[in-house]
Amino acid sequence: MQNLDALVAEAEAAFAAVTDPDALEQVKARFLGRNGQITGLLKALAALSPEEKKSEGAVVNRAKTTIEAALAERREAIKLAALEARLAEEALDVTLPGRKADKGGLHPVTLVMERIEALFASIGFTVADGPEIEEDFYNFTALNTPEDHPARSMHDTFYLLDEKGEVAQNVLLRTHTSPIQARYMRAHVERYRDRETMPEIRIIAPGRVYRVDSDATHSPMFHQVEGLWIGEYVSFADLKGVIADFLRRFFESDELKVRFRPSFFPFTEPSAEIDMAFMGESWLEIAGCGMVHPNVLQSAGIDPEKYQGFAFGFGPDRLAMLRYGINDLRLFYEGDQRFLRQFA
Ligand code: FA5
Ligand code: MG
Repeated sequence: MQNLDALVAEAEAAFAAVTDPDALEQVKARFLGRNGQITGLLKALAALSPEEKKSEGAVVNRAKTTIEAALAERREAIKLAALEARLAEEALDVTLPGRKADKGGLHPVTLVMERIEALFASIGFTVADGPEIEEDFYNFTALNTPEDHPARSMHDTFYLLDEKGEVAQNVLLRTHTSPIQARYMRAHVERYRDRETMPEIRIIAPGRVYRVDSDATHSPMFHQVEGLWIGEYVSFADLKGVIADFLRRFFESDELKVRFRPSFFPFTEPSAEIDMAFMGESWLEIAGCGMVHPNVLQSAGIDPEKYQGFAFGFGPDRLAMLRYGINDLRLFYEGDQRFLRQFA
């Protein structure tokens, strides 16, 4: 019977002599590979008689198992040594100076929205809120916008899909902040239901809105700040006064080129749009506004014979363009640090 102790010892010594995984695999091949020594011994068994095969086979297999175990052990040891070396190398040096944290800043449109909120707060407006995924009812119907109004078309509005992939009925991404008017008036009426005279409504409602729009002055996601003032004696003159005063304070100038242009909104009557001089020669529309339509008051449960008032919807993205002298609104949404850092 052959004695394979020497071969096993040779393998163990060879494994011990290498220190990296690749070299170890090469050494393994010398013993256990296709042309390795153990493999050769196993092949040679074929020529033996059945009895010899049995006894010699047991010897070779025992040697093979021992060598395999030695290999596995060496593999683990090499892996562990590598890990220890890495840990030693990456040890934390607490005496190194710290890394400087990058300083963030507010987005220019956020800065403008905060400025608008502060200016309206100073004349007694509180801030109201509403959902960006809005019910068709509040976005349109409650605002005197009939079923067949062009603003409802698929071209202008982002609708949502239901689980079946069909256009979800009755919900959409709000196309303006005006639904907050409708929601707020209803909540207000509900709250003061038992009172002879309800307090005035004086709110602004800033938020994101969505339309299928994209060019230098239109973004598919943009912002609006809605305003609503309802009382017993609130007039169109108040609307003009509040807005003119706001714009003077916002731009810190008394020499603004502003115009009120007659316009149409289903939810106001009369209606106007407000333009400001832009880049020297042209006009840029910054807001829509008007006296709240009696149908809108009525549908919220407010008596249009007793109460009246105005609403407006500013485009703060456009105000930011004017305030900072930016000629393409898409810059606000590209996330380019070189642009944004200027406002931080
Ligand atoms: C409205 O959305 C009305 N809800 C405004 C309103 C409120 C009227 C209350 C009466 C009473 P309009 O579609 O004109 O109106 O949009 C208002 C302002 O949003 C515009 O004047 C413009 O400044 C801004 N705006 C509109 N579309 C975009 C857009 N795609 N990107 C950036 N700003 C926009
Ligand atoms: Mg408009």
